[in-house]
Amino acid sequence: MRVGILTGGGDCPGLNAAIRAVVRKGEMVYSDQLIGFHDAWDGVRERRFTELNVSSLRGMLPKGGTMLGTRRGSPYDHPDGVQQVVDTFNEMRLDALVVIGGNGSLSVACKLHDDRQLPIVGVPKTIDNDVVGTDLTFGFNTAVQIATDAIDRLHTTAESHDRVMVVEVMGRHSGWIATHAGIAGGATAILIPEQPFDIDAVCALLRRRHERGRYASIVVVAEGAEPAEGTMHRRDKVYDQFGHVRLGGVAETIANAIEERTGFESRTVLLGHIQRGGTPSAFDRVLSTRYGVAAIDAVHVGAWGHMVALRGDEVLTAPLSETVGLSKPVDMHLYNEVAAVFFG
Ligand code: F6P
Repeated sequence: MRVGILTGGGDCPGLNAAIRAVVRKGEMVYSDQLIGFHDAWDGVRERRFTELNVSSLRGMLPKGGTMLGTRRGSPYDHPDGVQQVVDTFNEMRLDALVVIGGNGSLSVACKLHDDRQLPIVGVPKTIDNDVVGTDLTFGFNTAVQIATDAIDRLHTTAESHDRVMVVEVMGRHSGWIATHAGIAGGATAILIPEQPFDIDAVCALLRRRHERGRYASIVVVAEGAEPAEGTMHRRDKVYDQFGHVRLGGVAETIANAIEERTGFESRTVLLGHIQRGGTPSAFDRVLSTRYGVAAIDAVHVGAWGHMVALRGDEVLTAPLSETVGLSKPVDMHLYNEVAAVFFG
C-alpha cells in the first residue's frame, strides 16, 4: 500500500517515535511505501512530501519535535483546500493517510473521512492529554515531568526568599498537566480550567500555611484557568488566526492579586513551550511506538475514520466521530479527592 503520514497541530515529544513505528512496521512487515507530508495539511494540499523508509528514520526515536514539520489550520480554511487534498490522494495513488494530531487535526481527519470517504486513520497526541476516547495521548507524560522538574527547582528558591511562586503550565481547556505536575511537585494550590477559582480561597490557603510557619508556596495554574464570576477581573481574550484563544499570562494576574491581598511577596514562572520541547520520556517513546504500530495495523484492516487509543493496558481503535468537538476534562476525582488533600 502507499501510505501517507502527517503531523498536525502543536508539536509534542514522541512524534518522531510514532512516525518511525509506522514506517518500520509498514516497510518491514507489510512492504508498504511510506510518504511523509511536510507541514501538516499544507503539505498534502501542495504535494510537498518526502519518501520515508527505515534508514531515513535512523536516530529519530529520542528526538523531540517532528521531522515532518507541523502547522495549525485545516484544508477547510482554503477555498479549494478539500479538493486539493482529494486530488493529492488520486494523483499520488495514496491508499491511506495516517494523521497524527490533537483535537483539531483529528476533527479535520474525521470530517474529510465523512465528507469525501478518504481512507484516514488517526493517532492522538498532545501534551494537554485532552483527546476524548483515549486514556492517554503521548507527549503528556514528558510535559508533566518537565513541569515537575521545574517545580522542584522553584521550591528551593521560594524557600530561600519566603515567596509564593505562581507557575503557569499549558492546558487550554483542561487541567491535566497542572493536576499531575501539581501533585508530583507538592503544590499548595492547583488552578484548572474545569473549576473556576476564587482568589480569596487561594489567599486563605496561603495564609493558613503562613500561620503554620510555612512561608514558601507553589501555586500551579493551567493557562486556561479562569476566576469564578464576580471574584476577580477576567482577562480580555486575544485570538490567533485560527480563532483559538491565545492564552498565557494568567499567572501574572494571580501573583499580583495574591501580593495585593496578602502582602506575601510573589513571583511568576511561565513554562510555556519548554513543556513541548526536547526528548520524549521513556513512557512516551513506548506509547508513541505502540500507537504507530497499531496505526499501520489499522490501515491494513481498513479501519478508516478510526483512531488508535489506549484503554487500560490495551491499544485498540475507536471511531474519530466520538472525539470530534470534545475536550476530555481532568479526572475530578483525582483533583478533589487526591490533589486537594494537599492544598494549603
Ligand atoms: O495544544 C497544545 C498546546 O500546547 C496548548 O497547551 C497551548 O495552549 C497551545 O498548544 C499553544 O499553541 P501554540 O504553539 O500555537 O502557541
